[in-house]
Amino acid sequence: MYTFEKCRKRFLPAGVERLCDPDLLDIGCARRVLDMGSGLGKLAVQLFFSKPHIELVWGIEFSPSRYAMCYEVLRELCVSNPHRLTFKEMYGRSAGFQVTEHLPQQKQKQKRRLRFFCGDMLSSHFQKLALQQHFDVIICETEVPQTRFVTFLRCFKRLVDQPTTRSVLTYHDLDKVQHNNNNAADDEDVDIAFRYLKRCYPDQEQKRMIKTSWTTSGNSIGHVFHIWSSQR
Ligand SMILES: C[S@@+](CC[C@H](N)C(=O)[O-])C[C@H]1O[C@@H](n2cnc3c(N)ncnc32)[C@H](O)[C@@H]1O
Repeated sequence: MYTFEKCRKRFLPAGVERLCDPDLLDIGCARRVLDMGSGLGKLAVQLFFSKPHIELVWGIEFSPSRYAMCYEVLRELCVSNPHRLTFKEMYGRSAGFQVTEHLPQQKQKQKRRLRFFCGDMLSSHFQKLALQQHFDVIICETEVPQTRFVTFLRCFKRLVDQPTTRSVLTYHDLDKVQHNNNNAADDEDVDIAFRYLKRCYPDQEQKRMIKTSWTTSGNSIGHVFHIWSSQR
């Protein structure tokens, strides 16, 4: 279909597929997925087009140039598939674009939407917007700098605390981030306990790493992420 050769740090399609499994993000039951730091949009696009039961995918990307690449590719895709896809540009504070998939006549009421924003995923404006959507899967595949940990944790706490949220993926080990942060800042106000989530790791030893375009160990392709599932 199309490629994003410039994107180095990303999941390979097989990795995204593996992430969907019941022991990881359990995408089989997901209706609404949020990708925080969506880069060129690969993960969001793959989930949207390969999992027709998902009704809404949102991506938010800070870098205007990455967002612009995603915009161009999806606009082109919509223009060349006018019977299946509609491209709509959004303006104002929540500027971005949306791809809507046209469904067969009998399913017209259930519109599927893929929406991208260019902005800071940790801003209060975006948090407010995201909270209204009640996402059940939240993916944050990006390094957050230490200076923003408190903001990151507060934002995450609000998002994943929603009863709808079932699984979460992060680069960061949230327990450690919380522990280090509380030790350093001794800030009682930052109560970011993810107590209701249990953690599971794709197992490096058993070669159950998720396939990515980069690796942290040897020659194999892959990476270990932190994946959290709701126990409620
Ligand atoms: C590893 S890439 C994610 C790729 C994407 N999830 C995929 O698999 O196709 C991480 C992205 O997060 C973005 N990012 C970092 N901080 C951000 C922030 N505060 N708000 C939005 N995006 C951010 C970076 O610009 C980068 O493109």
